[in-house]
Amino acid sequence: MDVPGFALITGAASGIGRACAKAFANEGSAGIALLDVNHEALAAVKTEIEGEINERQKGSRGKLCQIEIYPVDVTDEDQVNKVVSDAASKFGRLDYIVNAAGIAMKHEGGAAFAKTADWQRIVDVNLTGTFFVLRAAAQIMLKQEPILSSIDGRPIQRGSIVNFGSIQGVVGITLSTAYTATKHAVIGLTRTASEDYAKDGLRINAICPGYTETPMTTKNPQVLKAMEERVATAVPMQRMGSPKEIADGVLYLAGGRSSFVTGSALMVDGGYTSR
Ligand SMILES: NC(=O)c1ccc[n+]([C@@H]2O[C@H](COP(=O)([O-])OP(=O)(O)OC[C@H]3O[C@@H](n4cnc5c(N)ncnc54)[C@H](O)[C@@H]3O)[C@@H](O)[C@H]2O)c1
Repeated sequence: MDVPGFALITGAASGIGRACAKAFANEGSAGIALLDVNHEALAAVKTEIEGEINERQKGSRGKLCQIEIYPVDVTDEDQVNKVVSDAASKFGRLDYIVNAAGIAMKHEGGAAFAKTADWQRIVDVNLTGTFFVLRAAAQIMLKQEPILSSIDGRPIQRGSIVNFGSIQGVVGITLSTAYTATKHAVIGLTRTASEDYAKDGLRINAICPGYTETPMTTKNPQVLKAMEERVATAVPMQRMGSPKEIADGVLYLAGGRSSFVTGSALMVDGGYTSR
């Protein structure tokens, strides 16, 4: 998948972020920095990936993937700046950013009754958190030497940032006022920032997952039941996606195979938004 460099992944302790961490390690990345508010789960993901690498490399002397973990809240500007800069200095550079940290919430009664605190929290994590990480990483990427893609000498890349939109970045879903607004905004942020730096070899794209089986969607049995009914009737493929299937889209957008792609929103949704 052409991701030999160094990746920084937020929301890496669970679901899609965790699948992305494993995917970069499995595809030969030189290092991964994993960020999440949940320190314990983050440490468990690190141990799990190290186990997989050791298993794969038994008897061989292949290159190891350096794994750094950072307990960090993406809504804390100072923490984000510190951690992104620390990861860049430990690795020597940052090639891929995966902005997967996110939270979802339904507002009982819809937009008319959404609480200000709920609105603010979702905006803080999904939109402002994404912006903080993008800004800190872009400042570093713009200063670093570009690397040539390992695929047929394609044009230089200074860095690649993948933000997390959603099907709710392009359509509305009931009772999801704040979440839907933030995911539309993440696509806007992606488009404007991508244009700022397209000529500099810094690519910025969004991935837009459809219904995907992660703790976000499965931990509440009521939410899961409603979702399963919706998936059966509204998703052309009539199933949920797996975190690995989303991670494959992220690998594509991060690495050299998408060298001519910037400012895009890649739908990975079983056909949900194409009808
Ligand atoms: N699962 C889906 O169906 C689906 C669909 C579309 C988009 N998405 C998006 O994909 C991304 C990953 O979602 P997921 O399903 O893997 O969810 P998840 O709940 O399994 O994982 C999200 C991770 O983000 C972390 N996180 C939350 N707030 C944070 C903060 N302030 N700072 C740092 N880390 C924080 C959580 O601790 C958790 O580990 C999110 O942006 C989500 O909106 C998910």
